Amino acid sequence: MTEAGFTPRVFSGIQPSGNLHLGNYLGALKRFADAQNKGVQSIYCMVDLHAVTVWQDPVELRHSTRELTAGFIASGLDPAKSILFNQSQVAEHTQLAWVFNCVARMGWMQRMTQFKDKAGKNAQNASLGLFAYPALMAADILVYHATHVPVGEDQKQHLELTRDIAIKFNNDFGVDFFPITEPVIEGTGTRVMSLRDGSKKMSKSDPSDMSRINLTDDADTIARKIRKAKTDPEPLPSEVKGLEERPEARNLVNIYAALADMSVDQVMAEVGGKAFSEFKPMMADLAVEKLAPISGEMSRLMQDVNEIDRILAEGAGRARAIAAPILRQTYEIMGMVGPREI
Ligand code: TYM
Repeated sequence: MTEAGFTPRVFSGIQPSGNLHLGNYLGALKRFADAQNKGVQSIYCMVDLHAVTVWQDPVELRHSTRELTAGFIASGLDPAKSILFNQSQVAEHTQLAWVFNCVARMGWMQRMTQFKDKAGKNAQNASLGLFAYPALMAADILVYHATHVPVGEDQKQHLELTRDIAIKFNNDFGVDFFPITEPVIEGTGTRVMSLRDGSKKMSKSDPSDMSRINLTDDADTIARKIRKAKTDPEPLPSEVKGLEERPEARNLVNIYAALADMSVDQVMAEVGGKAFSEFKPMMADLAVEKLAPISGEMSRLMQDVNEIDRILAEGAGRARAIAAPILRQTYEIMGMVGPREI
């Protein structure tokens, strides 16, 4: 039980919009597997309804949803231990999202930096769904009364909004119904930067494929991308402090630490003072050792999409069994007439 009396429960989601990359792995998937293996009940969602806030080709969306599911399983998520499903199969997410559209304030949503980044200069032409995106995200989490949400650093503001929505709902109706969720943003993998520019985060939408390692890359491609990663001409410093002001070096050290399950101090004790010509091959070996089996397993799993669809449908059934009573209680609190849960 948490202090507020909620059963600990982990929820997180990833968009099936293609190009699953090293940032998604180190910032999310690998940490999900760690949470699962600690034995906390964990629910993981392919957020297809979030993906369609910008245009998705239907054929590609279907493929990406299955490939993402394969990525979860290949990263160590076991569908028998964790619940794996796609968002559109559990209608309670969008039903609670509507309630939260009525709780969240326009001003809160207008402050979301991710909306501003994604909508760009042409905000008038962005979809209404893109604007409301964080309210659906809050619903994803709170429809399960999830207490902990492991994510990368770029999701922090959305999780603060989730807390604000829960607090306002509880205050408006004088209840202690929704938990105040804890964001879990820990370790060296929560902000993986581009391999071409240490000031930009690694992202699926970067036009340069050399900027990221995709989870579908084979061993040669992984090694080549690391060999070509941007660095400065100096060797690695001998101490962690020397990495300040050297974003590319810092990024490679962070990635190495996250892949090896080491702290940055431990990595620096091992590689401090080495030239990149020596460090990069070490890093390539490590990345290939950790990542190549994942891409191999993903392509194996993708050969049986019926099995993937079965896993998602089964996960959706288990997810709905948790979400439906929580939605019903929410409606009850708000005064909607219907079958009684409380
Ligand atoms: P998405 O699909 O953009 O990313 C999925 C996860 O990967 C993390 N991530 C990174 N971590 C480290 N370095 C990077 N360069 C990097 N890029 C991405 C993200 O932080 C995220 O954890 N809005 C979410 C999806 C979502 C969600 C939710 C998450 C919908 N509902 C409920 C948690 C709970 C998103 O677009 O993530």
